[in-house]
Amino acid sequence: MQFSENKSLAAFNSFGIDVKARYFAKISSVDELSNLQLMQNLPLLVLGGGSNILFMGDFNGYILHNQIRGIEVVHEDEDQVLVRTGAGEVWHDFVEYCIGNGFAGIENLALIPGRNGASPIQNIGAYGVEVKDVFYELEAFHLFEKKIYRFSASDCAFGYRDSVFKNKYKGQFMISSVTYRLNKKPTFHTTYGAIQQELEEMGVEDLSIRAVGDAVIRIRRFKLPDPAIIGNAGSFFKNPEISAADFQQLRSVYPDIVGYALPGGNIKLAAGWMIEKAGWKGFRKGQAGVHDKQALVLVNHGGAKGKEIYDLSEEILASIREKFGVDLEREVNVV
Ligand code: FAD
Ligand code: EPU
Repeated sequence: MQFSENKSLAAFNSFGIDVKARYFAKISSVDELSNLQLMQNLPLLVLGGGSNILFMGDFNGYILHNQIRGIEVVHEDEDQVLVRTGAGEVWHDFVEYCIGNGFAGIENLALIPGRNGASPIQNIGAYGVEVKDVFYELEAFHLFEKKIYRFSASDCAFGYRDSVFKNKYKGQFMISSVTYRLNKKPTFHTTYGAIQQELEEMGVEDLSIRAVGDAVIRIRRFKLPDPAIIGNAGSFFKNPEISAADFQQLRSVYPDIVGYALPGGNIKLAAGWMIEKAGWKGFRKGQAGVHDKQALVLVNHGGAKGKEIYDLSEEILASIREKFGVDLEREVNVV
């Protein structure tokens, strides 16, 4: 296995930030990983599709690009199927594989960019489903102990856009495989957002996982910028959670504020609404900007530096704090 030196990462991050990695290698198997000889004093970064990352500058260390492939049904009964996937599989291709085989559970997660290995890292979610709902187990290689560990769902400590891999174990593992538990008899999740309306516009009479997946794809194509055309990493911030009392107070000032009740009684605020209300939607400063159809998405209009995007995010954070008294948290990994 060979490292490329001074490799441009422009094609390996969906913001399209043009920085260089001192050393870059494609990892196709756990054997390759365990045989790596690395200089101890240099940082390591595992990279999947690069669709949730903002590079602030050149990376003076090793980038390990996960290319471990393979999709295998490892268990099947009348109701369910366990599918083990290499962490380097492309997530949307896997969604299509599942829809094509009648394996239900991730059709609402269609068209999310990135690789399967990253799906548990921030417990990807969309349209009322999160990966934790179908997660069975994963295998991860400890980069320093050089040992494989197996994680169950409870080991992963999944939360909203969160897991143990963003906290206690940050930077310590390369996830090598993820196994998902999918259903042969679908339970449809169509109440979230505009799915129902989209299905009606599509003229769908017999609901199927294909139809739900297609509805999600249509909504996402309309709202979210395609990174192949305009650099972005999806939602730049998380939707913040506040108490019901704080929400009532905000609503007395902003009657149209958007929030969703959570099981424990707290409210999840739509950060996109607040950012739009604060006047940022469609804003542009140099080559960094805020998407004109979805204010939660920061964009690279072409040639932006990571710092330009980051500085814009700082300005937005400060303005939301000042206007609403709410602290936003970045969802994107800043490196
Ligand atoms: P990367 O960006 O390569 O990595 C993300 C983090 O995970 C980094 O810290 C990296 O070090 C780590 N990592 C990656 N792979 C591994 C591995 N194998 N082992 C250990 N660590 C690893 N996310 C959602 O949840 N819901 C959405 O609806 C959504 N929509 C999006 C829409 C657009 C247009 C874009 C650009 C992004 C969107 N995202 C969404 C964010 C992104 O697609 C997900 O976070 C995705 O899971 C990132 O996968 P990746 O392979 O690109 O990860
Ligand atoms: N809104 C606005 N203006 C905007 C954007 C949103 O007013 O510019 C309001 C609207 O009222 C809308 C509400 O916010 O009804 C929610 O918007 P949307 O349905 O677009 O979802 P979101 O909360 O902005 C979240 C996820 C997305 C996921 C969608 C669909 C987070 C941080 N983001 O966005 O995930 O695709 O829901 O489930 O939770 C990502 O994580 O990268 C991502 C794209």
